[in-house]
Amino acid sequence: MIIAIDGPAAAGKGTLARRLAAEFGFAYLDTGALYRAVGLTLLKRGIDPADTTAAEDASANLDLSLFDDPELRAEATGGAASKVAAMPRVRANLLDFQKNFAANPPGGKKGAVLDGRDIGTVVCPDADLKLFVTASAEVRAERRRLEMEGRGQAADFDAILADVRARDERDMGRKDAPLKPAEDALLLDTSNLDIDAVFLRAANLVKDRL
Ligand code: C5P
Repeated sequence: MIIAIDGPAAAGKGTLARRLAAEFGFAYLDTGALYRAVGLTLLKRGIDPADTTAAEDASANLDLSLFDDPELRAEATGGAASKVAAMPRVRANLLDFQKNFAANPPGGKKGAVLDGRDIGTVVCPDADLKLFVTASAEVRAERRRLEMEGRGQAADFDAILADVRARDERDMGRKDAPLKPAEDALLLDTSNLDIDAVFLRAANLVKDRL
């Protein structure tokens, strides 16, 4: 069973995907972490994330074990990730790993949950369940602000909202694998739902397909 979860930044995809994977004993892949790792490699080397040659090179030689979670989750890393994610060769370099994860979930698990932007459209077009998780830009910015505040980081709502909008535009506007719902995706607007309600709806959809 393959579950594809796509949607814009900070819509709650990661939390939902992790909970579904835990509930049903499936493997989980956060595909954004791959693009984040490429972006972070460049930032750490002092290279502009818009440098296509350097990004292509980093994506061809990626070692995820080199990065820790707080660095990967940082806002600046997300911005760099969405720049390298617009480069077709970078996407191509990361595609096999994702497809292989879905086809052969590690640990002999019976299913895989992948979250990202193009899982239902490009990585797993034959997924058993495709969810497109959204929320308004304001709701997503406020969730991100609370998350940062919870980690003791300074967080300015207007700056976060501007970042969220810039990232949406880049992710939806790019030519290669733009962020959009697959034709057969089910839309889940989480603007007025808490995570438990979102999880329950999604878990019922998975049970229907078991
Ligand atoms: O989901 P997350 O915020 O970690 O993703 C970081 C960036 O990586 C996104 O803004 C997007 O540009 C890119 N990405 C992508 N395709 C995916 C997952 C992430 O282009 N499947």
